[in-house]
Amino acid sequence: MQNHVNFTLNGDSIAYAGPHGTRLLDALRGEYGLTGAKCGCREGECGACAVIIDGKLMNSCLVAMGSLEGAEIVTIEGYCGTERFAVIDRAYESVSAVQCGYCIPGMILASECLLASNPNPSEKEIREGLAGNICRCTGYNSIVKAVAIASDELRARGGPGNLLGAAASDSRRPAAQGKGGTLMSECFMPYTLKEALALRKNPELVPYAGGTDIMASPKEGSGYLFLNKIPELKIIKADGGHIRIGAACTFTELLENPLSPKILKDACSQFAAPAIRNAATIGGNIANGSPKADSALILVAADAKLRIANADGVRVLPVNEFYVGRNKTALASDELIAEILIPRQGLDNYYYKKVGAREALAISRVSFAAILCVDEGVIKNCAAAFGAVSDVIIRRADIDGMLIGQTLQEAAQLKDAYLKAYDGAIVPIRGRVGVEYRKDVCMNLLRDFLESNGI
Ligand SMILES: Cc1cc2nc3c(=O)[nH]c(=O)nc-3n(C[C@H](O)[C@H](O)[C@H](O)COP(=O)(O)OP(=O)(O)OC[C@H]3O[C@@H](n4cnc5c(N)ncnc54)[C@H](O)[C@@H]3O)c2cc1C
Ligand code: FES
Ligand code: FES
Repeated sequence: MQNHVNFTLNGDSIAYAGPHGTRLLDALRGEYGLTGAKCGCREGECGACAVIIDGKLMNSCLVAMGSLEGAEIVTIEGYCGTERFAVIDRAYESVSAVQCGYCIPGMILASECLLASNPNPSEKEIREGLAGNICRCTGYNSIVKAVAIASDELRARGGPGNLLGAAASDSRRPAAQGKGGTLMSECFMPYTLKEALALRKNPELVPYAGGTDIMASPKEGSGYLFLNKIPELKIIKADGGHIRIGAACTFTELLENPLSPKILKDACSQFAAPAIRNAATIGGNIANGSPKADSALILVAADAKLRIANADGVRVLPVNEFYVGRNKTALASDELIAEILIPRQGLDNYYYKKVGAREALAISRVSFAAILCVDEGVIKNCAAAFGAVSDVIIRRADIDGMLIGQTLQEAAQLKDAYLKAYDGAIVPIRGRVGVEYRKDVCMNLLRDFLESNGI
């Protein structure tokens, strides 16, 4: 059994032999002496620990070392020898966008990732690109200005440039190999679904996809079954009446793929900030069993299904039936979510609202998704789903059925009865926000959905 994790760090090959559950942030700072990545929150909220993994911004506090097999990691120490760094650095300096500097390594790497994927961002896009990076002293206006200046200069120079500078050969270069250690816990990285399902027979192994839930509060000594290198779990393809989405697809991959339904993309674009979207997967979002899970809400409204597999076979379950109680799901201990099947038709006319405390990184206080499918003036499908309100996502096909088969005029006459039925069905649980607030928001959103469709 291989117990090294092989990856490149600022261009150097590393064979890491320490505990696989260690956070990359801790290994960078402790094992490799790369202290540019800072520790702010260890929960994925501040971006101070950001690094670039396989070209994508990631929060190193939420990455387990064992998931890094084959990865290319660039930290600020490797990046700071590049011409692109020099341009961005000068731009930050020119508008005094640095005060204490604590957030700056993460801020610079977030700027790089934004400008690499969008060389000419608008101010709004810059703010979105940096939404996961918190600065507590400079203030964001000068940072946004700096990124705009860097964008102009980089475009004037042309060419994307290289992520790693020549400087990766001086004292900033990490040691060629980690200090080593023994495996504290058993972790596995299978390369096929079959292999993963065989390993899943061991109930001690926790499936680990993007790690953004798991690493936010890891359990000491957990053994992980890493799912991020299994091609079958990364597919997105049209198949008959469905789009098949592999459970280990990240929110960034869903956003970038033309096959993703617009309603799902809408939710993905409001999901956290780029560094989280780059790691978090749709399968992890469903499997965590939370009624606040943003993609699960869309899947419930869309009447999507899950392909759930174990070593003996596959079963198909409507997403709505997957949730059986607060943080409880129908997943057996030897099963994995393999795919999500979303209908290809009937999702174009949708309504989606996520209500949170702040725009970026907000976990939903109330979320609402609804679909209305009208053909020749007759309602063919109506589906409403409420998230973050109760123990499970609320989906009442029986109530929605009142409007199905009606014309829009007939539905308007049934509107009060429909709203009244939902008023009785939505029983919010007490949370950080009050029960009455949640109920009011739900009913207002439902009314707005109807009115926006002329009902
Ligand atoms: C800063 C921050 C912001 C966030 N913002 C949002 C947000 O806006 N909206 C939102 O909904 N969530 C949000 N989250 C929560 C989290 O990012 C999501 O739930 C994410 O989709 C989890 O996916 P993952 O791949 O990281 O899961 P992991 O952490 O890898 O796993 C989560 C759970 O799912 C299980 N699991 C994973 N994959 C499978 C599989 N294929 N089969 C069976 N079990 C599996 C794991 O064992 C674990 O129990 C946020 C988290 C953080 C840290
Ligand atoms: S330390 Fe705050 S996001 Fe990692
Ligand atoms: S410069 Fe001090 S936190 Fe950003």
